[in-house]
Amino acid sequence: MHATSTLDTVPPPVTETPAKRTLLIVDDEEGPRQSLRVVFKDQYNLLIANDGTRAIELAKQNRIDVAITDIRMVGMSGVELLEHLKAVDPGIEVIMLTAYETVDTLRLALRLGACDYLNKPFDIATMRKAVSNAMERRSLGEEIRNNGQALQELQKELHNQRMEEEITRTRGEIYASIIHDINGPLTVISGFIQLMNQRIGNSGRIEGDDLDFVKDRLRTITRQVTNCIEISRRYLSFLRQDADEHPPVGVNHILADLRELVRVHPSIKENEFVIEPLAEDAVVRINGTDLIQILLNLAVNGFQCSPEKHSVKITGCRLPQPLELDGIVDGREERLINREGFKNIAPLLSLTVTDTGPGIPAEILPRIFDPYFTTKSANQGTGLGLNVVQRLTREAKAALHVRTRPGQGTTFTLYLPGN
Ligand SMILES: Nc1ncnc2c1ncn2[C@@H]1O[C@H](COP(=O)(O)OP(=O)(O)OP(=O)(O)O)[C@@H](O)[C@H]1O
Ligand SMILES: [Mg+2]
Repeated sequence: MHATSTLDTVPPPVTETPAKRTLLIVDDEEGPRQSLRVVFKDQYNLLIANDGTRAIELAKQNRIDVAITDIRMVGMSGVELLEHLKAVDPGIEVIMLTAYETVDTLRLALRLGACDYLNKPFDIATMRKAVSNAMERRSLGEEIRNNGQALQELQKELHNQRMEEEITRTRGEIYASIIHDINGPLTVISGFIQLMNQRIGNSGRIEGDDLDFVKDRLRTITRQVTNCIEISRRYLSFLRQDADEHPPVGVNHILADLRELVRVHPSIKENEFVIEPLAEDAVVRINGTDLIQILLNLAVNGFQCSPEKHSVKITGCRLPQPLELDGIVDGREERLINREGFKNIAPLLSLTVTDTGPGIPAEILPRIFDPYFTTKSANQGTGLGLNVVQRLTREAKAALHVRTRPGQGTTFTLYLPGN
């Protein structure tokens, strides 16, 4: 196909050593082509073209490290060729040979990525130096590109690995949380079934007070079973990553539900429990079961914080202003959860759970939200209650503030965005 072309190529030797690099020589004059060939034939694989079109073909078929091209050639100019070569492989280093070009042409060539230019006629030492510098630049550029690529691949791999770890960890935490959240209702259910068994024993008929007793306990059991189903639904939708837009829920309705759940909870014992509904009901954007779970976990902690008789109180309040976050500094007696993700837009709704227990020691305050952190005995606490609270708070774009004073008790305040 190229038999008619006045082309001079020295094909690379078949047993090419990997270290031998390829030099492309492009000139439409025989003289310079031949002298460059003589100078470099032992050192590099040479490809020689007498015009731009052939040079581009060669560049497409071979991996070229450095090209020397005359600027002034019949047909395609050296500057045009430079652009084409860079388009084929941006890493090719190109040395321009000039005779009487204007400064503007040289500037253009350099701007297009030429690495050097030499005047014709060139002296051999300068030419050798220029080519060897260009070869070095090519190697360096390649190394940088390879390293960059390797780095990118490494980063991608690390990212994937982290994602996978995160997913496994989150799933593990979710499964543990399901067990934590369902354990409360199950304890109530099993306790009530035991009570009914004791009361009615083997009696053939149930009537009068016994019947009322059974009906009342069955109502509670039904509520707790519904709660279990809601909990599993909530976690399933979390695992499925369903859209998390929640319809607004009425807070007083939630507080009434919560009262029913806490009333029968085994941890309440002799302790006092007060819920003060909002004077004027308000709506918040959070999954209703999530809000109940947050308040329930906080209330249960309130009851469990001391064996001495004490009280737990839940109150709500509408805040017309956003929270002054700068005034809250994590320290020995207070902490704020989800400062960054908090949608601090008024009106906010605050819900506080206060106990009159012993307070939380400053040394453990930074750890109470960690999964599996507990100061309770193995059969009393899993250390997941507050971790669940923290996760649900983040999901609701809410914030949770804890203030504690040794000997005086602890107050958890949940700040929920209203609309
Ligand atoms: N109101 C509180 N007063 C004193 N300490 C508390 C209070 N709430 C939490 N803590 C401390 O924080 C720890 C972690 O609480 P968290 O609810 O996460 O786990 P837990 O109550 O120990 O176990 P679980 O809730 O899984 O049954 C508790 O063990 C306790 O030391
Ligand atoms: Mg707890």
